[in-house]
Amino acid sequence: MTTIGIIGGGQLGRMLAQAGSTLGCRFLILDPSPSACAGGVGELLVGQYDDEARLVELSRRADVVTVEFENVPPDAARYLAALLPVHPSPSALATARDRLFEKEAFRRFHIPIADFRSVSSEEELRRAGEELGYPCFLKTRVFGYDGRGQWVLHGQEDITAAFDALGKVPLVCEARVPFEAEVSLVAARNPQGEFRFYPLNVNVHEKGVLRFSRPNAWPVTPDLQSRAEALMEKLLVGLDYVGVLAVELFVVNGELVANEMAPRVHNSGHHTIEGSRTSQFENQVRAILGLPLGDTTPLAPVAMVNLLGEVPDMGALLKMKDVHVHAYGKSASPGRKVGHVTVRADSEDELDAKLDAVATIVCPELAAKVPRRTKA
Ligand SMILES: Nc1ncnc2c1ncn2[C@@H]1O[C@H](COP(=O)(O)OP(=O)(O)O)[C@@H](O)[C@H]1O
Ligand SMILES: [Mg+2]
Repeated sequence: MTTIGIIGGGQLGRMLAQAGSTLGCRFLILDPSPSACAGGVGELLVGQYDDEARLVELSRRADVVTVEFENVPPDAARYLAALLPVHPSPSALATARDRLFEKEAFRRFHIPIADFRSVSSEEELRRAGEELGYPCFLKTRVFGYDGRGQWVLHGQEDITAAFDALGKVPLVCEARVPFEAEVSLVAARNPQGEFRFYPLNVNVHEKGVLRFSRPNAWPVTPDLQSRAEALMEKLLVGLDYVGVLAVELFVVNGELVANEMAPRVHNSGHHTIEGSRTSQFENQVRAILGLPLGDTTPLAPVAMVNLLGEVPDMGALLKMKDVHVHAYGKSASPGRKVGHVTVRADSEDELDAKLDAVATIVCPELAAKVPRRTKA
């Protein structure tokens, strides 16, 4: 029996454990919270991520360790990697964790990114604003997610407030990218160097949080897909990456500009559970165990809608044919990701209609923003 250690016990860990159970794996999940939702499907090890006694226990009882979030303390990852295999590697994790290192890696692999400046004082921020132009995005180098840890500066008058809010930690300031769409590519690579790509997702965010994801929606074309795959291949090989990697990209005038990477399964890949021959979660398990990767060809048109705050009336959703509700077993709290819905259809036209119906139930205020197969 193989035991997989996961650092982090959120919904990504939960779905990893669900997928890996099918392959006969057990899961030991390290999380500071005794109510972490992955504990519903695997054994929780409650402790801080840098608690040495917990890390030793994890290393003794697990055969391999992986992560479900990017902010794993680098020392903890290195400590574990001296004792057992850790995938992705501590160095890949350290790169993806810090926006500055991440941007330096994109540059090293000749992947286009927005112009940026490293910022550690109000004076540097003032200069960055002048050089990058307004609006620009100020972001903490680490610990930012779902739009947290960032501030949009519209002009010089915002500098002091932005720096007061974020300036106690190292920052980067980025030029605004006037994108026509946001997309993401999810891919997997195993230690043998085999890789698989999923179809490009079109992602719609609201206030920095992902709300909808739909593979192959406008403006994705086969050409954009192959350019995204070429870029991803450079990252996977360059980082000697093992596991699932996601890259968020902007589409600007038909060109791809990288935003950030996530060294893990990704929210925009949740629809692969019903929409792909092999889900991102199963491929993560296969990759870290050195098993052959599974086929990522789509089974049917799909899209995903996030459930924020609380799970709505499930009956209304489950009545609809081929609509699948994933509730993470988390308590309700405003803005919290508590579940998602996968909508699957027999045709893209049918998916358009069903997605409208689901959005009307889940988030009527955003129904006009659902990604479409063709330009609205
Ligand atoms: N430089 C930028 N130009 C335009 N929009 C941006 C820029 N940076 C971030 N955003 C917007 O904010 C969202 C969240 O930013 P991101 O860097 O992906 O942080 P997070 O880690 O919170 O996902 C992006 O998906 C995008 O909508
Ligand atoms: Mg993001």
